[in-house]
Amino acid sequence: MNITIVGTGYVGLVTGTTLAELGNSVYCVDIDEKKVEGMKNGVVPIYEPNLEEMFLRNIQAERLFFTTNLKEALDKSEVIYLALPTPPGEDGFCRSFLCTESSERHRRNDDRI
Ligand SMILES: NC(=O)c1ccc[n+]([C@@H]2O[C@H](COP(=O)([O-])OP(=O)(O)OC[C@H]3O[C@@H](n4cnc5c(N)ncnc54)[C@H](O)[C@@H]3O)[C@@H](O)[C@H]2O)c1
Repeated sequence: MNITIVGTGYVGLVTGTTLAELGNSVYCVDIDEKKVEGMKNGVVPIYEPNLEEMFLRNIQAERLFFTTNLKEALDKSEVIYLALPTPPGEDGFCRSFLCTESSERHRRNDDRI
């Protein structure tokens, strides 16, 4: 199965790498160009036990990909996970505007993140 993960931080990268390990093709999308460039070159931006080994194995196997182009990833995918920040507002409750904006761009077939 082809899967997109939008937001490649602690949740997104671990989820994406694990889904690739299970045999899926996973497209990890992030707004941070530097982070994406690093991951394309095999640099794991976070530490989780055993993650680096699994990450490198799945890049090598061409099941784990990184991009800043949302549309390019979504066009290939059957399943989409959003693993985006949900920062707290002044009232302390989380805000999900990044998820709404990302979904809206997908609906409009927009290739920006
Ligand atoms: N980390 C945890 O243990 C944990 C546990 C439970 C829930 N969560 C929730 O999971 C979500 C993700 O958390 P996290 O810890 O992975 O966050 P994170 O900050 O580690 O990662 C978020 C990633 O999203 C990227 N990003 C920001 N805006 C973007 C956009 N418009 N398009 C694409 N990428 C974008 C950032 O560059 C970053 O790489 C949050 O809602 C958080 O509350 C996290």
